[in-house]
Amino acid sequence: MSATTEFAPAKINLTLHVTGRRDDGYHLLDSLVVFARVGDSLTIADAPEMALSVTGRFRDGVPEDARNLVWKAAEAAGRRLAITLDKTLPHGAGIGGGSADAAAVLRYCGAGALAAGIGADVPVCLSNMPQRMQDIGATLTPAAKVPALNIVLVHPGVHVPTPQVFAALISRENPDMGVFPGWDDAQAFTEWLRQGRNDMQEAAISIAPHIGAVLDALGDADLARMSGSGSACFGIYPGPEAAAAAARRIQAAHPDWWAVATQTIAA
Ligand code: C5P
Repeated sequence: MSATTEFAPAKINLTLHVTGRRDDGYHLLDSLVVFARVGDSLTIADAPEMALSVTGRFRDGVPEDARNLVWKAAEAAGRRLAITLDKTLPHGAGIGGGSADAAAVLRYCGAGALAAGIGADVPVCLSNMPQRMQDIGATLTPAAKVPALNIVLVHPGVHVPTPQVFAALISRENPDMGVFPGWDDAQAFTEWLRQGRNDMQEAAISIAPHIGAVLDALGDADLARMSGSGSACFGIYPGPEAAAAAARRIQAAHPDWWAVATQTIAA
């Protein structure tokens, strides 16, 4: 049986508004999600037994057994797979990681309908296209006329558990994002994004002050903001050269951080 390669791109919450809270404690969100041209990659084949091996820069601490979301995804789909997971993305960073990996396995299995049961961020990761994510994560609307952005992704190597950030939120009932106008160019899009927020950013910084240092390091960007529940942040730059230069500068100043220049996928 020949193996298939699946790409699991970094997920970026360009905006993330927390608009309310359900009785079961889950938070209602309104988020504009896009994907980047960097990500994990998975080699997947049908096999007699489940087998997972993790390679790559961020393999440390990633379980190679049923604790891994890719294993859970395969099991939920009733499949036995041999998976090699190349971890290019830092995990627990607010950029998808494990959710994107699990979504890649569900895509391979043709079992996308199971995504919400694996994790709140898995449904949005089934497609690599810009989407508006609402409710607790599973209500998705394709976002049209979204230009590509030149960005730098930075992660300081600090892991902030998502439930802890939700628990530290000061305000849980903020305005939603209103109507999406659609944007003709990256500049107009960035202008619009500036009016948005990540409502989890302040709470995450109170837990992990390193996030403030990351945002400072991205201080020359047109816009710098945290993704998801952190601690990775993105900076938007006017072009690919400016983004590459910023990534080099940040990496040189902070050798233990992860800093990459990339582009987001347009719609
Ligand atoms: O579903 P997932 O495992 O990704 O969520 C991790 C945790 O984040 C949940 O257990 C919950 O505490 C919190 N969460 C939330 N509201 C969401 C998504 C996640 O409160 N919309």
